[in-house]
Amino acid sequence: MERNQVLISAEDLACQQEFQKKIAAMFAAREAHPRACIDTFGCQQNVADGQKLMGMLSECGFTFTEDAKEADLVILNTCAIREHAEQRVFGNLGILTHTKKENPEQVICLCGCMAQEERVSKRIKESYRHVNLVFGPQALWKFPELLWQVYESKKRVFSVADEHGTIAEGIPVVREKGVKAWVSIMYGCNNFCSYCIVPYVRGRERSRDPECVLAEVRELVAAGYKDITLLGQNVNSYGNDLDIGYHFPDLLRDINKIPGEYLIRFMSSHPKDATYALFDAMAECEHVAKQLHLPVQSGNDRVLKEMNRRYTREKYLDLIRYAKEKMPGLVLTSDIIIGFPGETEEEAMDTVSLVEEVGYDALFTFIYSPRPGTKAAAMPDPASRAEKQKWFDKLCQVQNDQSAALHAAYIGKTVRVLVDGKSDDENYPLASRTEGNRLVRLKGSEDLMGKFVNVKITGSNTWALYGEVE
Ligand code: 5AD
Ligand code: SF4
Repeated sequence: MERNQVLISAEDLACQQEFQKKIAAMFAAREAHPRACIDTFGCQQNVADGQKLMGMLSECGFTFTEDAKEADLVILNTCAIREHAEQRVFGNLGILTHTKKENPEQVICLCGCMAQEERVSKRIKESYRHVNLVFGPQALWKFPELLWQVYESKKRVFSVADEHGTIAEGIPVVREKGVKAWVSIMYGCNNFCSYCIVPYVRGRERSRDPECVLAEVRELVAAGYKDITLLGQNVNSYGNDLDIGYHFPDLLRDINKIPGEYLIRFMSSHPKDATYALFDAMAECEHVAKQLHLPVQSGNDRVLKEMNRRYTREKYLDLIRYAKEKMPGLVLTSDIIIGFPGETEEEAMDTVSLVEEVGYDALFTFIYSPRPGTKAAAMPDPASRAEKQKWFDKLCQVQNDQSAALHAAYIGKTVRVLVDGKSDDENYPLASRTEGNRLVRLKGSEDLMGKFVNVKITGSNTWALYGEVE
């Protein structure tokens, strides 16, 4: 793809601002501001997209509510990665028939990854006739235009064409208050892991220009954000499509030159593209958190091959060995799928043994969920749900024991944390994160919020550490 086909032009973006103004003018006649309720499901990329939707809606004059009943506009920003997430969305759409009955003017919108699936948009067209607007992730930048079409034509609008995807710079963003911010550095995925729907719904890999990323991080640091996560389906292939000899380690080094008190994290990394050079850059850059989320998915070579992951157990373990050597105390996390089609108990136990060998701090564990249209969905899947559950429970038990032991080893130590919220434990009212992103519940007063402080760890369990400010 040519770069000028990837970047949305300034004129096209200015056009969207005109649609924002038209919508704002339409509502200006009303006494109260229109209200929008955005329900976001799934990953951090979707959360970041939700913040752009809020940005564009703010420009249209909207305020926000969490109650769909009182909203003029309801948006379900959806995830397609597992069946369960989809079922929840269809459930919520069902409930919205009632809010729409109460308020026939209410506009209901479905966007995000599910919306991009042909099977889903067809079902919405035929059976969920109260939904006014459906658009996929590739059409996010023209949301103001699509919303205007709904208001003007009073017809249902579907924008779900199968596109490679684009990059739109300068879309307004409403960020979460506090110290955490997310910056997408690239979009899409080229990997086609055989179980995964993402490449079908988020288009091909495309990287933002380094200057745009750097400018955004500079702005965030200046605005006081202290915990900044770079996002992409596979940040390790950042820059490959730019053809300027500039890659993810270069971006990390350039970001690291920005002065200020802040941490940089990133996710996700694909082991096939993770290199020693990446770990060298991480080790060198003082602003880069010594934390690595490196999804392994399986510890068995046959299963990895069937998953189309393009690395072996040995290659993965070698990467981990190098990363640990370079960064003693590195906090490691991973994603794992149990019960891939055809996986045997022995193969699942290879994953458990890899988990023991690596010694992860935490895991995101999933039981395989078939996604129509992916290669794995057509593979024979003889193991029963009960068997898979047994393997899954074993994995979770091993990891929980490991997390508890790693956490217990912190007791008596002093760690630097960033206080980033309130905790639900009344004896430890503050929530904070170590550089490795471990949760530490803290005794202390609210004026510590947003600050880096040194904390003595006094207790722990499987999920959290407990401490007191020194
Ligand atoms: N079934 C179960 N888990 C999945 N993931 C992706 N696709 C599926 C699926 N079909 C998991 C992977 C990925 C994480 C974001 O979700 O572990 O890394
Ligand atoms: Fe899905 Fe694999 Fe791409 Fe991750 S790298 S989004 S698991 S296809």
